[in-house]
Amino acid sequence: MVETSAAERGAAPPLAPCVLVIFGASGDLAARKLLPALYNLAAGGMLPERLAVIGLASRDAGVEAFRDAMGQAVREHVGSSFSPELWASLAPRLHFMAGDLRAAETYARLGQTLGEVAAEHGTGTSALFYLSTPPSLFGEIVRRLGDAGLVREEEGWRRVVIEKPFGHDLDSARALNREIAGVLAERQIYRIDHYLGKETVQNILVFRFANGIFEPVWNRRYVDHVQITVAEQLGVEHRGRYYEEAGALRDMVPNHMLQLLSLIAMEPPASFEAEAVRNEKEKVLSAVPPLTPEDVLRRAVRGQYGPGAAADATALPGYRSEPLVAADSATETFAALKLLIDNWRWADVPFYLRTGKRLAAHSTQIVIHFKRVPFSPFRLTPVDHLGPNRLVLRLQPEEGISLRFSAKVPGPSVRIGTVDMEFRYADYFGSQPTTGYETLLYDAMAGDATLFQRADNVERGWSVVAPILEVWKALPARAFPNYAAGSWGPQEADELLARDGRAWSNEP
Ligand code: BG6
Repeated sequence: MVETSAAERGAAPPLAPCVLVIFGASGDLAARKLLPALYNLAAGGMLPERLAVIGLASRDAGVEAFRDAMGQAVREHVGSSFSPELWASLAPRLHFMAGDLRAAETYARLGQTLGEVAAEHGTGTSALFYLSTPPSLFGEIVRRLGDAGLVREEEGWRRVVIEKPFGHDLDSARALNREIAGVLAERQIYRIDHYLGKETVQNILVFRFANGIFEPVWNRRYVDHVQITVAEQLGVEHRGRYYEEAGALRDMVPNHMLQLLSLIAMEPPASFEAEAVRNEKEKVLSAVPPLTPEDVLRRAVRGQYGPGAAADATALPGYRSEPLVAADSATETFAALKLLIDNWRWADVPFYLRTGKRLAAHSTQIVIHFKRVPFSPFRLTPVDHLGPNRLVLRLQPEEGISLRFSAKVPGPSVRIGTVDMEFRYADYFGSQPTTGYETLLYDAMAGDATLFQRADNVERGWSVVAPILEVWKALPARAFPNYAAGSWGPQEADELLARDGRAWSNEP
């Protein structure tokens, strides 16, 4: 195992002092991700000594109640690595303010509180505003921050982090970009895609560009096709209201899945500066040819889960029986599509994407299927089938990378089996407590936007899925539900690949 001490992990440059203002501080994200991430950063010695947090919520809680609730949440989420002493040093840095996020008066008070908190903790005037509120409030909060003069940069910096979903479709994403661009410079805007906070996702770039041996085969001459799967075992849980409006395509594809596709397919950037990386991502997505309505009918599949059973035979309800879901809902909980990338590297190499709720396994993985050997000298031996080489990047939950190749089965006759060469993160690096938000928060405070989406990246993601949204809206699905909870999704998704003589890799 490669030992990485806290000091080494914290070898990143120290952050300058600032105040973090969390809008929507009584919500799920603050408790499940943001505060535990801050705690983990503190544990790794990566928080600025002079940092303060202001939680802003519409519900009045009081500072003590807020500190207690966050302490409880952090304890739950970091588990055995929780240190009461460390928390005791963090808790006094948390402040709370109640206010109506649609009222100008709230922002006047926020300005005042910000000044007081900054003076108390000696943080100076830099501030990061983190919008973890319902998306309908994003534009208005930014506008009101602007009206109150809170995003003007005088001595320190002022930045705004915007959670997903960024828009509901291409038009609304454009409108939101326009609205916030009227108040903020692009360099002040940090649009989050939490997939980019995952170590394994960041590792795609390291894997590709820090190793000489993969890049030469990373193209249409050697790659047969690529599969990107984000399979969830969970259903929609308590998020029925949001999900009914969103559906699987909007929820996962224009953001997370196209980010994965971009990282796999983009050209090597000239540097790891934010603009260089984001330019390459923009280029690769702009090479995805827009789908015609006929393409959508042939290359996009949607599904909705009906009742089914988990692997241990526990009965699972259908989507239409989930809380806050209509009994005749036409919302898709599964989407699969085949995309092409029209450039020299990838012409004619299909990228198959699929994502869904209540599938047979929890697994996010990218599988690169290489072409078969052009000629097999083993054909006169008892070898009926040579499997292709396959590189699997397992992003979660069993993070790792495996390479499948053929090997001779020991014995006097030539028999060939397939074997996997395995790398597991846990074996080399142990398992660090992480929420996936540590790097994102750190980078936003450090002013590094590489892992955040630029306005054009977000719009490009929406333009790729726009034709699908249109066709699906015009032709509501008639055969829903079309897959059983606990299965691998609708049959049409298998047919999508079978038509091309291929099959999904469903093994872990
Ligand atoms: C969110 C989606 O963005 O990503 C959820 O809204 C989904 O529906 C989640 O469950 C998946 O994230 P992760 O990190 O659990 O793979």
